[in-house]
Amino acid sequence: MSRGTCAEINLSALKHNLDIARSNTQAKVMAVIKANAYGHGMVEVARALASCDGFAVATINEGMDLRESGVYQPILILEGFNCRDDLRMVYAYDLQCVIHSEHQIEILEKNKTADRSKNIKVWLKIDSGMHRLGFSLKEVQAMFQRLNDCNSVQQPVHVMTHLACADDKNSTYTTEQLSIFNDSLSTLAVDASANISIANSAGLLAWPEAHQNTHWVRPGIMLYGSSPIIDNNAEKYKLQAVMTLKSEVIAIHNFNKGDSIGYGQSYVCDQDTRVATIAIGYGDGYPRHAQTGTPVLINNKQYPLIGRVSMDMITVDVSKGKDINIGDEVVLWGEELSADVIAEHANTISYALFCGVTQRVPYTYSHAN
Ligand SMILES: Cc1ncc(COP(=O)(O)O)c(C=O)c1O
Repeated sequence: MSRGTCAEINLSALKHNLDIARSNTQAKVMAVIKANAYGHGMVEVARALASCDGFAVATINEGMDLRESGVYQPILILEGFNCRDDLRMVYAYDLQCVIHSEHQIEILEKNKTADRSKNIKVWLKIDSGMHRLGFSLKEVQAMFQRLNDCNSVQQPVHVMTHLACADDKNSTYTTEQLSIFNDSLSTLAVDASANISIANSAGLLAWPEAHQNTHWVRPGIMLYGSSPIIDNNAEKYKLQAVMTLKSEVIAIHNFNKGDSIGYGQSYVCDQDTRVATIAIGYGDGYPRHAQTGTPVLINNKQYPLIGRVSMDMITVDVSKGKDINIGDEVVLWGEELSADVIAEHANTISYALFCGVTQRVPYTYSHAN
């Protein structure tokens, strides 16, 4: 028997969010579904987003799983390959690769495939300021040339970059990155048929100049219904929450003023308090650092979490709740209580909340509107 803790995935909301992405750009959409589609279930999400022009994942294994599940659209591996064995899988599974390091180019140069039909499609990554992966303005021309000279690379070579601060509309860094990217691009003899890609969700929604003249956008978090922009909520962009994390009340107790609740006595009742215990904890992916006061929805009304989050349970002050009973439905985040709000109370981001839901939690998929 399940203890009532589950993650409900609303695939209609997912499709709606894809429509929002499309309505903001002319570019093709490569849905970012790495890390199990940000914890939402990679294969189910890919199937629901079948109208996408392509998908991006981080690893070759993710790309292989997608192909094996029948996904036929282009699949881009954002970290590319690291060794020759990886490269064999890239060919076998028809995966596109980001090329971000000279090490990868050396592997390609040693790979003397005679069969031109088997050449791989690559995206040269320019480091315009993230300083994580990619080639600097100084290196990029030589690397581009080597890729073009490589027999095992399909022509043309496509070009991309990634934005570090697009979530902050007040930061000047995105403009600087765009300028570095454009400067780098202008040093390359990029084929007219090559594809260019810059924008993640934040770039797509807040920086038109990051996708106006590009061919592909790479939204992730907005597809799952979270706001990618600091200080703007998801509603502003008409995004709908895809995941609802639910549980149930498993105990209710009355405590006296001065009684402490949970580990470390971190919460002490400042008055007589009615406390509901909910069957969810960090063992399920509820954030360990959610603070006292984090909202929890019980029967559609908000109540404050009190005390420390434990592995299997949390405790909630329901003194103001009239009719709360064992078995009542609890929503930890979802359409009525944004994961962005919970993330703020736990000093984290919604990406981490979604990715953190553990295998103990059963998932259900629906097309509810
Ligand atoms: C290279 C790249 N592009 C696009 C994305 C999607 O970003 P977001 O989820 O913020 O839209 C990511 C996510 O980490 C990424 O690493």
